[in-house]
Amino acid sequence: MGSGGALVDVHTIGVIGGTGPQGRGLAYRFALGGHDVILGSRSRTRATEAADDLNGLLGASAVVRGGGNREAIEASDVVLLAVPYDGHRELLEELRPALAGKVVISCVNPLGFDRAGPYGLAVPEGSAAEQAAAVLPDSTVVAAFHHVAAATLLKTVDHDEHEDVLVCGDDAGAKEIVIKLASTVSGRPGVDAGPLRMARYLEPLTAVLIAVNKRYKTRSGIAVTGLRERG
Ligand SMILES: NC(=O)c1ccc[n+]([C@@H]2O[C@H](COP(=O)([O-])OP(=O)(O)OC[C@H]3O[C@@H](n4cnc5c(N)ncnc54)[C@H](OP(=O)(O)O)[C@@H]3O)[C@@H](O)[C@H]2O)c1
Repeated sequence: MGSGGALVDVHTIGVIGGTGPQGRGLAYRFALGGHDVILGSRSRTRATEAADDLNGLLGASAVVRGGGNREAIEASDVVLLAVPYDGHRELLEELRPALAGKVVISCVNPLGFDRAGPYGLAVPEGSAAEQAAAVLPDSTVVAAFHHVAAATLLKTVDHDEHEDVLVCGDDAGAKEIVIKLASTVSGRPGVDAGPLRMARYLEPLTAVLIAVNKRYKTRSGIAVTGLRERG
């Protein structure tokens, strides 16, 4: 736990919605990267079962814990929101006191589906991440990991695909934490994609990737060209 080896910054990361595919997949990568991870759930039993599953995959390399959502938040300095957009505002209102002072990462994609396929839902604040920032004034919200397919996260780590993680936020320090954390997923630091309001473009872009996936029967991701300087 937390034995990061080459990692400079080791975080304790609570995952809200840690029993779902995206939360579990990102938790797996964070744990492999040497971070201390706690899966959160509305049901402590479900969280513990999900943690046991991940520990089976991780072997001796790390230990993931499970707990209630509040418990996962309270033990963490960084919290990943991996919950559906449906019920998002109400959940954050409920968890607001526990989330105060934390770096909160949102990978929430507000998407709808109709006969033509997926589309971005209209969010009053502009994006789910901006909604989180509005509901959580005492937390620091960063948006990232929207385009990383859950199905790829639990597979063998293969960074040859050159996927990039786009990261946006208004706080430089918090954004830097997430940019570094992205290396556990893509093998290289995340790409600084600007202020938090960019989340209103990142979130619905996922609808495009889903359309590509359907056409080519694949799990597509994002790779950004033209970046000569990288940390
Ligand atoms: N799946 C992907 O490939 C992918 C990729 C990029 C981004 N995302 C985004 O990541 C988020 C999670 O995706 P997912 O596919 O893992 O979602 P999911 O399976 O539908 O939900 C994840 C977890 O959220 C909890 N949850 C569900 N409804 C809730 C509610 N009303 N209040 C509180 N907790 C609730 C559940 O955990 P408990 O019942 O145990 O509490 C559930 O296991 C979504 O916003 C999605 O857009 C997903």
